[in-house]
Amino acid sequence: MKPHILQLIFASCTAAIWPAPVVYDHGNHVVWVSNRVAFNWVGATTIPYPQPSLYNWKPIHPYQHYFGWEFYPRNEAPTGRDMIEYAIQSTKTTLFSRNFVPWKFHPRNWTEPISGACVSEVNIQLLGEDPEDIAKPLAGQIDESYRLTLTKNGEDSKVQISANSSLGILRGLTSFTQLFFASEKHDGWVYTTSAPVEIYDAPTFEHRGVNLDVSRHYFEPSDIKRTIDALAYNKLNRFHLHITDSQSWPLVIPALPSLSINGAYRPNQVYSPEVFKDLQYYASLHGVELITEIDMPGHTSSIAHSHPDLIAAFDRQPDWDTYAAEPPSGTLKLNSTAVDEFLQTLLDDLLPRVFPYSSYFHTGGDEVNKNAYRLDDTVQSSDPAVLQPLMQKFIDRNHNQVRKAGLTPIVWEEMLLDWNLTLGKDVIVQSWQSDEAVARITAKGHKALFGNYKYWYLDCGKGQWLNFDPSVSATHYPYQDYCAPFHNWRLIYSYDPLALVPRENHHLVVGGEAHLWAEQTDATNVDRMLWPRAAAAAEILWSGAKDAQGRNRSQIEAAPRLSEMRERLVARGVGAEPIQMPYCTMEGMGCQLGYTP
Ligand SMILES: *[C@@H]1O[C@H](CO)[C@@H](O)[C@H](O)[C@H]1NC(C)=O
Ligand SMILES: *[C@@H]1O[C@H](CO)[C@@H](O)[C@H](O)[C@H]1NC(C)=O
Ligand SMILES: *[C@@H]1O[C@H](CO)[C@@H](O)[C@H](O)[C@H]1NC(C)=O
Ligand SMILES: *[C@@H]1O[C@H](CO)[C@@H](O)[C@H](O)[C@H]1NC(C)=O
Ligand SMILES: *[C@@H]1O[C@H](CO)[C@@H](O)[C@H](O)[C@H]1NC(C)=O
Repeated sequence: MKPHILQLIFASCTAAIWPAPVVYDHGNHVVWVSNRVAFNWVGATTIPYPQPSLYNWKPIHPYQHYFGWEFYPRNEAPTGRDMIEYAIQSTKTTLFSRNFVPWKFHPRNWTEPISGACVSEVNIQLLGEDPEDIAKPLAGQIDESYRLTLTKNGEDSKVQISANSSLGILRGLTSFTQLFFASEKHDGWVYTTSAPVEIYDAPTFEHRGVNLDVSRHYFEPSDIKRTIDALAYNKLNRFHLHITDSQSWPLVIPALPSLSINGAYRPNQVYSPEVFKDLQYYASLHGVELITEIDMPGHTSSIAHSHPDLIAAFDRQPDWDTYAAEPPSGTLKLNSTAVDEFLQTLLDDLLPRVFPYSSYFHTGGDEVNKNAYRLDDTVQSSDPAVLQPLMQKFIDRNHNQVRKAGLTPIVWEEMLLDWNLTLGKDVIVQSWQSDEAVARITAKGHKALFGNYKYWYLDCGKGQWLNFDPSVSATHYPYQDYCAPFHNWRLIYSYDPLALVPRENHHLVVGGEAHLWAEQTDATNVDRMLWPRAAAAAEILWSGAKDAQGRNRSQIEAAPRLSEMRERLVARGVGAEPIQMPYCTMEGMGCQLGYTP
């Protein structure tokens, strides 16, 4: 049933865009959109609704799959056109099947508007040619800015989304969906109370990511895809997959099949080449670049299940903590031609499978424990003066191979800051230990990623996963983990990654990542471990740590918008936690402290 178009209703609830756009001017008129609205792709084909069989869309039960469709990836990376066509489909699904009734954002006696104008068309205008590597950009290569206008002329309304790249169109369509709410009364219609709308938007940081550890626990591809979709919905553009570690090796390497046959937790808890390709493709299609990490030389003891001769200090007990940050201990030997040959085979197999979908490859390098090399028969020393040149050779070998495969290496900060290695200027150095680390990396002229664990480690504060013997239990009481307390969204949101970086080095800070290490996370809690806290990080990454006036971002301003994003994530099938009671959003200013209007 079509709503009556009688009069303009002035409503109090503003459609919140998360992350905050650079410019968001809006009115307070009601405009409706019907599921029959035409999306016109200016300069290309008109795409009718419903989409015919351009791809093999197969409607299935909405709870089985995120979008209610199954999508079959092609063999090469998606083009910008693929991305936009897919984004138009998901825009429609989001608007009409993954939307929510915003009662929590109105007083108790609220009823939805009964009239307003109607959107007659949505025009999408790609202003420029996409570069060839639109699916796998290096930081800074793609202009993700977009302009969105929703005009209202009497009872008619038109939407225009323009961008210089297909990725910009994707970001604009995401914001477009956030203007609209589900209707309780009118099936097939959604409405905004914020017309007319004028948005200009562009990201602050080029690299906006989440890092998920899929080694400590295995995650089904469907859980990873749901996570990728939620990332894209927060305008995050990098998904860092920490795909192997000491506890399990789930990545199938056909040239070294025993790695996953012996190293995965279970034979079915693996990422086959088909699944791995599908995940990379799926991410690209959402404007998210999947970055694969094989962490080494530490964090590798799962290799010992198939190649015991390559690992030193494997599974030392009970003194594992002398040799590693976590059990089981073990590290790739540092002066071994067998290790070199193994890595050559491993990366020769893997890197060509990464290349179509990413410009990066992460070679790890965190938490290397020097003591382990006392037990390495090729070294037998923990002396930094002995180890350092070997580590330099190790990383040079790896990075040369990564570059030959057409990829840019990423490493953890320790390789540069603790091991004093000479790294290529192309290498991105990922910090995690401190704000000083970001400053030190950029002072050395390197590109840096931020993600200080005191703010952006999402696993912190759950308490220990180690069990303490009664004889030492009291000294560990009350069993806090190393990075406690729990990092609530306000702490994540308060993080200013540039705090210690001099202005002249800001250009070297390409972005950052929030991290979820999965010792205590699996499919049952991954959604609420990530969301909506990763969304708080997403706003820092997209909109910057300071507001338009250069002030610290306000929790009072952000909380209702983040609450709304949380509702939108839940509507998408993501189990995001609430950040406050309905009372707080229903009553407007009821839940503040220290606020004087
Ligand atoms: C809702 O309640 C408020 C306060 O009790 C009142 O001012 C307002 O007029 C009511 N609105 C409607 C639509 O009944
Ligand atoms: C597109 O590029 C032009 C020229 O560089 C720039 O002025 C504009 O802000 C960009 N973004 C959009 C959405 O038009
Ligand atoms: C590394 O291995 C080579 C060849 O086995 C050996 O000659 C050399 O002494 C080793 N280096 C160290 C530091 O142990
Ligand atoms: C790196 O340099 C620092 C400071 O000069 C030094 O303390 C440290 O031992 C060096 N690390 C290695 C592995 O040589
Ligand atoms: C802004 O936040 C920083 C922490 O990022 C804090 O040190 C500073 O005091 C805050 N400034 C104001 C004006 O509150």
